[in-house]
Amino acid sequence: MKGIILAGGSGTRLRPLTRVTSKQLLPVYNKPMIFYPLETLIQAGIKDILIIVAPDHAGDFLKLLGSGKEFGCRFTFEIQDNPEGLAQAFLIGRNFIGGDQATLILGDNLFEDDFSSAIQGFESGGRIFAKQVPDPNRFGVVEFDDQRRVLSIIEKPQQPKSNYAVTGMYIYDNSVVDKAASLQPSERGELEVTDINNLYLKEGKLDVAFVEGEWFDTGTFESLFAATQFARRQALAAQPDGG
Ligand code: G1P
Repeated sequence: MKGIILAGGSGTRLRPLTRVTSKQLLPVYNKPMIFYPLETLIQAGIKDILIIVAPDHAGDFLKLLGSGKEFGCRFTFEIQDNPEGLAQAFLIGRNFIGGDQATLILGDNLFEDDFSSAIQGFESGGRIFAKQVPDPNRFGVVEFDDQRRVLSIIEKPQQPKSNYAVTGMYIYDNSVVDKAASLQPSERGELEVTDINNLYLKEGKLDVAFVEGEWFDTGTFESLFAATQFARRQALAAQPDGG
């Protein structure tokens, strides 16, 4: 299993914080944001990790993360020239993935859950992770039928059919590379990971699991602040005297 962290984009919603640095390098309590998804992959036993960054601050990511040796991993770096979608990660990462399976995690997503068993027990198809949220229209949303079977995944629907958001953690078999290559850009000009999920769904190979712990997509001031408070609680609780 290979790991990919997508840390591209220009972080426009977080300006002026992102005017001179990348969103994924901003602090979330006592660590740069990207450390959290990185630690989620490492915790799940993934050691071979591709980090995809935007061109502007690529050198800062390299300086921060290095070869990966310090983390017991091997890091590879690639550039996403333009913010052309999450699914583009599998095209940029084609050589890196080779014939393996791949887990994609977004560089601005922070999870409390331990995904070790979900990743180590993964066999084939696609596996995504949903979480109930108050504002599903910000996300990919899972639409269920009466029997709780998944009907479709809809990207940022104006009238969401459920409040289950698709979180930024995706586990795929090797067919994800060809699936990504078959996509056309959406109306917002991006190759959508939601379209990949719908391809797996059509093949009857999409497994929707649920996130149990806290989850933050830290792309807005409010969610960044909430994530910072959560990270602080976790860090203090982990101290020998419990904070
Ligand atoms: C992306 C995906 C969306 C997913 C979200 C999770 O949204 O397109 O389906 O729910 O990540 O963070 P974006 O970050 O592009 O707004």
